[in-house]
Amino acid sequence: MKRPPAASLDRRIQYLFPLALSSILVLGTARLVLDSLKSNDSYVFKQYGRREKDRPEVVVVSAEDRIDESCDVFEGKWVWDNVSYPLYTEESCPYLVKQVTCQRNGRLDSFYKNWRWQPNGCDLPRFDPLKLLQLLRGKRLMFVGDSVQRSQFESLVCLVQSIIPEGKKSLERIPPRKIFKIKEFDASIEYYWAPFIVESISDHATNHTVLKRLVKLDSIDKHGKHWEGVDFLIFESYVWWRYKPTLNATYGHPDDVQEYNVTTAYRLALETWANWIESSIDPKTQQLFFMSMSPTHLWSWEWRPGSNENCFNESHPIQDSSYWGTGSSLEIMDIIHDVLTQLKVNVTFLNITQLSEFRKDAHASVYGERRGKLLTKEQRSDPKNFADCIHWCLPGVPDTWNEILYAYLLKNHQNLL
Ligand SMILES: *[C@@H]1O[C@H](CO)[C@@H](O)[C@H](O)[C@H]1NC(C)=O
Ligand SMILES: *[C@@H]1O[C@H](CO)[C@@H](O)[C@H](O)[C@H]1NC(C)=O
Ligand SMILES: *[C@@H]1O[C@H](CO)[C@@H](O)[C@H](O)[C@H]1NC(C)=O
Ligand SMILES: *[C@@H]1O[C@H](CO)[C@@H](O)[C@H](O)[C@H]1NC(C)=O
Ligand SMILES: *[C@@H]1O[C@H](CO)[C@@H](O)[C@H](O)[C@H]1NC(C)=O
Ligand SMILES: *[C@@H]1O[C@H](CO)[C@@H](O)[C@H](O)[C@H]1NC(C)=O
Ligand SMILES: *[C@@H]1O[C@H](CO)[C@@H](O)[C@H](O)[C@H]1NC(C)=O
Ligand SMILES: *[C@@H]1O[C@H](CO)[C@@H](O)[C@H](O)[C@H]1NC(C)=O
Repeated sequence: MKRPPAASLDRRIQYLFPLALSSILVLGTARLVLDSLKSNDSYVFKQYGRREKDRPEVVVVSAEDRIDESCDVFEGKWVWDNVSYPLYTEESCPYLVKQVTCQRNGRLDSFYKNWRWQPNGCDLPRFDPLKLLQLLRGKRLMFVGDSVQRSQFESLVCLVQSIIPEGKKSLERIPPRKIFKIKEFDASIEYYWAPFIVESISDHATNHTVLKRLVKLDSIDKHGKHWEGVDFLIFESYVWWRYKPTLNATYGHPDDVQEYNVTTAYRLALETWANWIESSIDPKTQQLFFMSMSPTHLWSWEWRPGSNENCFNESHPIQDSSYWGTGSSLEIMDIIHDVLTQLKVNVTFLNITQLSEFRKDAHASVYGERRGKLLTKEQRSDPKNFADCIHWCLPGVPDTWNEILYAYLLKNHQNLL
């Protein structure tokens, strides 16, 4: 990983998210498209619809499903694979919000959907939705975080939903939660909006803005009570911290608002979270994950020196295997690492930043939305101001994050046997 030379530390880096981008950091309010799939004859339905109640679940973890202890799945490269990828399509998954359906929103190139992550030392297990459902039987899996985390939630729903017959699945909204239920399996895949993980004035599921941030660095219980007993919890929090280098927050007295360095504040928040984890999690029954930062591609001069654009019109991944964008804060990465290593409970750190750094081609760009609305033609023709280089198209990069999550779920399941 390359640390940028000091000369390129433009002041734009400090103010990570330009004002114009702030409005895309909102929870889309797109309506759900009705599930029109006719998957009555899917194989899950046939095989597992009538499972006898008292028979324990058997999840067959084959040799190909195991990732070797010594293999670092986060080191590798993107390889062209238009045979197996994408793993689903925009049309086949009715649960995607407008923000991520780039093709439907007018994106013409589609290469971004056809790349497979190939770790250097091993292969990722082939994603098998049925196996995941078996792992989830009688359980809840919940993603906690911001809108980037929400796309990982949607991705996982899309990865499994095609094999579930109509009428046996549902998506409910109970703000700030979204709950995808799989009836046959008495399982759910959920999403919980908490952009700072700890409490803040941005916790309303739709009415929030990054322009006004006030974070309660020592408060988490309002959120925490919704996370109690959840079998698999996947946390993430990054972009909302990075709008400016300082933010207003409270710690101790609720009326004592002070400006904090973002890094100082992030550490305090994560420590609050860590205390909550230690007092509220049962590591025997609950598994925890933490996603590293999702990178942004706001400045094309980082990968194409001399240019002055962003992720717009990028059609291929970055080839330089040491590429690291200045938007991904190593300081924050170190804080997460520190807090996790001091924790008495095991939390698996999914270090997806580097692999996602290569994907300048995979953001929503001008084929996303702003303040809950698709861009107008005029806005689209002004990518400098309107391209969204934070969120990702689906199918796309978050599918890979989930393939990695899946690999770890299988691995942990094995270790528990
Ligand atoms: C599924 O198949 C059964 C039996 O063939 C039929 O009665 C039922 O209406 C079908 N349901 C759907 C949602 O297509
Ligand atoms: C897949 O990619 C190969 C190599 O670029 C190309 O020749 C082929 O036409 C592609 N197939 C499809 C179905 O797009
Ligand atoms: C959104 O929140 C702000 C402040 O919290 C409030 O003044 C405003 O009325 C809310 N807007 C809506 C549409 O609920
Ligand atoms: C903190 O709040 C004060 C008072 O509302 C405001 O003037 C200041 O700009 C805020 N600071 C940040 C970093 O948002
Ligand atoms: C914020 O961070 C900078 C550089 O890391 C440091 O110089 C400054 O003292 C910090 N401010 C506060 C209030 O902690
Ligand atoms: C996008 O890039 C292609 C070349 O890769 C170029 O021909 C085209 O003009 C670009 N489009 C815009 C709108 O910049
Ligand atoms: C995450 O991955 C990057 C690049 O692969 C590496 O440099 C960094 O040390 C890793 N961070 C942690 C905490 O493991
Ligand atoms: C955490 O996981 C490691 C390896 O997976 C294991 O050796 C260790 O005992 C676990 N620690 C706790 C506190 O569960």
